[in-house]
This record gives sequence, C-alpha cells and structure tokens, in this order.
Amino acid sequence: MRDAQPQSIYLKDYCQPEYWISQTELTFDLQDDATVVTAVLTLEANSAGAQSGVLELHGQQLELLGLTLDGDVLGTGRYTVTDETLSITGLAQQHFLTIVTRIYPATNTALEGLYRSGGMYCTQCEAEGFRRITYYLDRPDVMSVFTTHIIADGSRYPVMLSNGNCTADEMLADGRRKVTWLDPHRKPAYLFALVAGDLLNKEDRFTTMSGRDVTLKIFVEPQNIDKTDYALDALKRSMRWDEEVYGREYDLDIFMIVAVDDFNMGAMENKGLNIFNSSCVLANPATATDAAYQRIEAIVAHEYFHNWSGNRVTCRDWFQLSLKEGFTVFRDASFSADMHSATVKRIEDAKMVRTVQFAEDGGPMAHPVQPDSFIEIANFYTVTIYEKGAEVVGMIHKILGAEGFRKGSDLYFDRHDGQAVTIHDFVAAMEDANGVDLTLFKLWYKQAGTPVVSAAVDYREDEQALYLTLRQQCPDTPGQIGKQPMWIPVQLGLIAADGQDLPVQVAPALNTAGMETWTSASQVLHFTEAEQTFVFSGLAQPPVLSLFRDFSAPVKVEFQQSPQELLFRLQHDSDGFNRWDAGQRLMLDWIDQARLDEFELPEDARQVMVQLLTDETLDPAMVSYLLTLPSEAYIAEFSDPVDPHAIHLGRKRVRLAMAMALNEQFAACYQRLVSHAEYQPEPQQMAARTLKNLALSYWSVASDAGIRQALAQFGSTDNMTDQMAALVALINSGDDELAQQSLDAFYQQWQNDSLVVNQWLSVQSGSADLGTLSRIQQLLEHEAFDWRNPNKIRSVIGAFANQALCHFHAVDGSGYELLADAIIRLNATNPQIASRLLTPLTKWRRLIPELSEQMKAQLERVAAQPDLSRDVYEVVSKSLA
Ligand code: ARG
Ligand code: ZN
Repeated sequence: MRDAQPQSIYLKDYCQPEYWISQTELTFDLQDDATVVTAVLTLEANSAGAQSGVLELHGQQLELLGLTLDGDVLGTGRYTVTDETLSITGLAQQHFLTIVTRIYPATNTALEGLYRSGGMYCTQCEAEGFRRITYYLDRPDVMSVFTTHIIADGSRYPVMLSNGNCTADEMLADGRRKVTWLDPHRKPAYLFALVAGDLLNKEDRFTTMSGRDVTLKIFVEPQNIDKTDYALDALKRSMRWDEEVYGREYDLDIFMIVAVDDFNMGAMENKGLNIFNSSCVLANPATATDAAYQRIEAIVAHEYFHNWSGNRVTCRDWFQLSLKEGFTVFRDASFSADMHSATVKRIEDAKMVRTVQFAEDGGPMAHPVQPDSFIEIANFYTVTIYEKGAEVVGMIHKILGAEGFRKGSDLYFDRHDGQAVTIHDFVAAMEDANGVDLTLFKLWYKQAGTPVVSAAVDYREDEQALYLTLRQQCPDTPGQIGKQPMWIPVQLGLIAADGQDLPVQVAPALNTAGMETWTSASQVLHFTEAEQTFVFSGLAQPPVLSLFRDFSAPVKVEFQQSPQELLFRLQHDSDGFNRWDAGQRLMLDWIDQARLDEFELPEDARQVMVQLLTDETLDPAMVSYLLTLPSEAYIAEFSDPVDPHAIHLGRKRVRLAMAMALNEQFAACYQRLVSHAEYQPEPQQMAARTLKNLALSYWSVASDAGIRQALAQFGSTDNMTDQMAALVALINSGDDELAQQSLDAFYQQWQNDSLVVNQWLSVQSGSADLGTLSRIQQLLEHEAFDWRNPNKIRSVIGAFANQALCHFHAVDGSGYELLADAIIRLNATNPQIASRLLTPLTKWRRLIPELSEQMKAQLERVAAQPDLSRDVYEVVSKSLA
C-alpha cells in the first residue's frame, strides 16, 4: 500500500548492483508473538558496478532493531529507512553488515516471507518475499552462501529446517533448541526457505548415477502421513529421469519436501527444501482423484527439475523468469509424456494453451515471454511465462531434434553453472552447440500475441502437386504495434483416401526457408515469411491435409475443412493430437449450430463414435479425450463476441444429442471397463477409469439407468476418482434433491479432510447447475470456508468465476459484483490472490455488450478503492486502459 502511483520497472534499465553479498548468516529467533531475525552480510564491492559507496537494500514491513557495520553501531546520519528500502552511505570495498529486524509471521496474511500456516512456520520468498524477512539485495543476480540458525522451543517445534545440510543441533542455556543449516551452493535469496513445526516425515533413499546416496524426506502434519507415498515415488522417478534424459544429478545429501496448507501457488523449488501447497503433494486413493495424482507427479517433477533449470543456473533478473519456468515446464511435460501417454499429455497442454494462454495473449495483460516491463512481478507468474514459454522451448526442440537439443542443454548447464543468466544465453547455447542461427526464432520471446496462420490449398491435377499457401499475422497487443513474421514450425502430413499417410515430398525450389529437403510421412516446414507457398509433389490424388500435427506451434489456425474431412481425420489421422483436434473442430461447429436450434448427431459422426467406443485396441484415455466436448471456456476462445449463455445452451444440446444417440454404447463401454482390481494410481488403470467415467457422464445424462449406476458407484467405491465422477454425474442429473442429498452425504463422509472438502466446494461452485449466486454466498459462510486459505478461495470464488460461466455472467451483473467484492476484501489481506481473481474480469472487452459494460463497471469500482496493492492496481489499470 502506498501513496504515490506504482511505477513500472524496465528490462532496459537493468544494471549490476554496486555490492555483492558473498556470505549470508541468518539467525531466526522464533518467539511467541514475533520473530527476531539477525542477518550478518559479507559485502564486497562489485568492480563492474557503480562506485558511489551507497548500498540500497530492499525491505518491507520490517521493524529495524539494530544496525552495525564491522562491529560498530551505525550512526543515524549514515543510513535512511523508507517503506521499501534501507540505504547506507560511505561504504568502502568490504564490510560485515549486521541487521536485526523484527517480523510478525502470525499476522502475515499475504503468505510472502515468513508466515504461519496452521501450527507451523514456513516461508515463500520468490519472487520478492525475502525482503519481508530482512533488509537485503533481494534480486536474483545476487548469489550468496547461506548459513541459517533457527532458535525455538524444541518441544513445540521439533522439526526445524532450512536449505542445505544440518551442521549443528544444540540445546541453549534457556532450554530452547538451536539448529544450524549450511547450504554450500551459492543462491539468490528467492531460493531461501525455513520451516519449523511439529511434523512427521516419510523417508526414502536414492542413489545417484555416480553412486552418491541421497536421503529423501517428505514432511507433513501428523494426520497426513498416509498421503506421502505417491509423491516420494514420483520424486525418485523424476530424479532418475533427469539423469537419463538430461544427464543431471542431484547435488546435496538430502532432499526435502514440506506440505503446507496455506500457499499462494502450487509449490516452490527452494534449494534442497521444496515447499508445496498440500493440494499438490498429498494423495491417497480414497481422497485424491487420478487427475490429482497426475498433477502431483508433474509438480513434484517440476520443482525437482528446477534444481538445475533455475537453481544451479538461475535468472539474472525477473524479466528472465521464463528462462527457468518455460524450460522447466517443458521438462516436466516431457517427463509426464514419458510416464503416461505422450499424445494425451500433448492434448491437455494444447487445451490449456488455447483456453487460458490465448485469452491472456489477446487481452489487456498480454506480454511477451520475455516481458520488457512490469509493475508487480507477482503478476507475471502467468500462462504466457510458463506455458507459452514451454511451447517456445518445445519449438526449439522440434527444430534441433532430440539429440541437438540435448547438446544445447548440456552446453547451457556446463557453461552457466553457478551463474545468473538470461534467455539470450539459453538460446545462444542451443545455437552454439548446433551451429544454427536462431536470431529470427527469438522473436517468439519478444513479441506478444498469438499469431494467426491461415492456410489455403490448391491441388493441380496436371502437376500432381498440392500448393499450400500459408499466411501469418500477429495482432497488435498493448504497447506493441506492427509485428514481424515469426519462425513457425509447421509439422504436417498428407493423408490418402484410404487413411494412410502419403510420403511428403517438398519441391525444393519453393522450400525457401527449409533447413533441408526431405521426404517423410510427417514433416516440419519452416514457415518464416508473411506469406509462403510450399509445393508437395508426386500426388496422384488430392490428399487430406493434416496441419500443425502435435500442436507444433502455439498459433491459431484458419483452415476450412469440411465436416467430412474433419470426420475422416478424427478417424484416420496418424497424429493423435490432430485426431483430437479434428474432433474438437467438428464439435465446435455443432455447438455453434445448436445455439440456435435443437441438434441431432449426424449419422456419419455417430458411426465413427460407435467405432471409437467399441474398438478395444485403442487407448481408453485417448478415446475419452476424443469424445469429450470442449469446455465452455474453450468454446469462448473460439467465439467473437462471447455470449456465455448461448455457449452453454449449445453445448448442453450437443451433449444431450450425443448421450441419446450413443446411449447403448456408453452403457456397454461403462460395463466393459468396470474393474474389481484394487485401485492403483498407474497409467493403465487411470486410462480405463477416464473412459469409464466419461461413459458414465453421458449415460447418466440420457437415462435413469445411468443415474442409478452413478448412485451405485457413488456409494460403493474405494477411490476418489470414481466417487467424484459419480458425484458430478448426480449433480448433473437435473434432479436437485438427489444432487443435494449426494452432496450432503459426501460432506458427512469427508468433513475432516480439508483437501477433499475443497473438491466438494469446487464441484458445486463451478457447476452450471448448482453454482448460483445464492449457493456461492452460502458457501462463503460455510464452516469449511476460510478467507485466509488460498485453496478455499480458489475452490469457491475461482471455480465460480472460471467455470460456472452461465452464473458468473448472470445478466443482472450479480456474479461480477460478488467477484469484485471478494477482490476488494482480499486486496487488503492477500494481494497476490486478489490480483489472480481479477482474470475473468480482464476479458470484459470480448463479451457481448450488455455483459461487457457491467464487467467494466465492476473493474472501475475496484480501481476506485483507496489503498490498492501494486498487484491489483496493475491488473485493473491495464484492463481499463
Ligand atoms: N517457482 C515456483 C514454481 O515452481 C513458483 C513460485 C511463485 N510464487 C509466487 N508467489 N509468485 O513455478
Ligand atoms: Zn517453476
């Protein structure tokens, strides 16, 4: 909170600090009402920095108790303190600076810095939380060796953890305990962590590829000790995978994970001491769905992979955030693809990019993967930095091939180990290791917005050739007008009438930007100009074109294919991703038609779907994705302007039409996939459950037999995947009494398990049938709700505003008002969460006018509040600009 308007920070203004901090020694005295932090910093002048003798440290919400320089108390003339800084003047080359501050973890509701969650202490320092612990050069290019002492009542806090290795554990004269941790690896302050509490741990071991023995521990509150096995197993698989695929080994004797209930994000890669939102690490069959298991596996891997992509090689400044996040998401996605189905993983990722990232890229918060300015860095932990960043790394992988990419990553890690570097350094390593020039490609990091690629084909029988003309255009985004053409890898295939892929032969003369001439079944064109024509020869018949296989670039594609061609590709495309994509396009067309009128499933489509449902040789997970309708949010991204009520109606009609036309097949598919084997969170079982429960969802829409089956499954299952799927089917049954009875029974059963209660909250709040304003208001008053806990807020308000679109967009504007009220309230307690909740309102310009105006009015109401946090200020002001 501040008086002056928050200012932007620019990448172009980056300069090195005047001092480095070679050693950081911290002592935390955890007292009942407050914590006293003593920091001893070894300062060394930076010969490359300015030489003014002034040190300006960052600090927020700190009480300064003492300040000594080389052992002498600093006179008041030597330093100045503001709300955000501590400046000291008259410094020489080298000093020891001792700073004593007092902080109040128990009243820290922002969940940044040191705070209390339940009965424990924990930290979140990325991006700029460390400055709420002590005055410091809180920037990622300042790397230091950290020693941490924790002093506390040993009976109340038997577990006291920090980064690195535990080097001392002693009883003090006053009966309290003092534990010391030393992290030998230099690191920026954002990777610092501390935990103290009464926790249990599950332990395991891992032997690294060079034969070193590593202790693995997951710490949890006692009631959760039966929920650690899966994360531990995922951790070991991640460690092995990073050795095998990237040649990267773990580098400390111990690796710890701690689960905490109150956490703003998913998890944090603090060196040797990862801290996780409990929802992203704890699971057992009775309480976690298959989707939750897969999320846990991915996040455990993600945080572990950061040990190299993020910690050993870190970011020079926060404009480089995607250097570690885009690369690490790419790494965890490859890991998940290896653990399960690569095609299904690709589909899930593309869905996410199309639904959420394209929306961001087309809205007021659009920014490049490497932003050039920001007001509040916490607002830039976005799908653009993470998911688009990962897509960009994936395109480099596609361009260089697996081997070339590995050469590049080896060079990057070797060259920059122990350094804080830039995205440019990453690309340079890829270039140097492969002798390629990626200058043009780097526009992907600099230009915001989603390129639109349009394709036109012309088959010339006399030449037996297909002419494919591609055009690209990237829309203007805030602050970026007039974009240049980008290097877009277009993976494509040509399909013959019998469904087989034809050899792809590119006529070389016209393949201007191609890196080589090739013949193959599925190839990558290098599309680099505003308009380019590619000629494929040797085609006796006009083929069906399959463009952007494997979602080879994060672009929007405009290419007209007839319903027959789409259906043909849904059946025959050898690229699983494009099979799915063809089906989704077909369904989008149906939903469009169904907005206006009743809908009946076309007979040819019905036949293809029957085949999919009865072919037992297909991967059931894949079949399930092929038959799942696009979500309302996904449909909205393909609509202009967005009319949420029409989308809801259209989708509902198509769902009913599919359910009725395939009722028998869904019932039979369900019966075939019912299993009596003990639940295991392993890929084959998960795939079967996915299809079984999709079948149940359609079956129960169309018939009472389906509803009876959902009821039976709800009461008899041993696992949350099946129980939750049954509950959703009962909620969607249209029988309000049955829905409420089921919800009540579920709550009775699970009220003592907070993570399950969160699922109970979100399944109602996000429901098109139940997520009405009055229910949301009730849930906000419910004993299970807690305004301090981000998971609860996401489960109720987040689910409502992002999923229950027909209620959030109620024509009287009440949904918007409820969201704005929540944002205003949270602005004062947890600005990061308040700011995240704004996202649905930022899309106001895309809605139909009667809704758009009301959304804007609520944004204006938020903007007019006094004391806006930097986080909320940035998003509302940019949204209204
Ligand atoms: N680096 C974390 C990750 O693994 C994200 C932490 C960001 N936290 C925050 N409060 N902004 O992606
Ligand atoms: Zn990350």
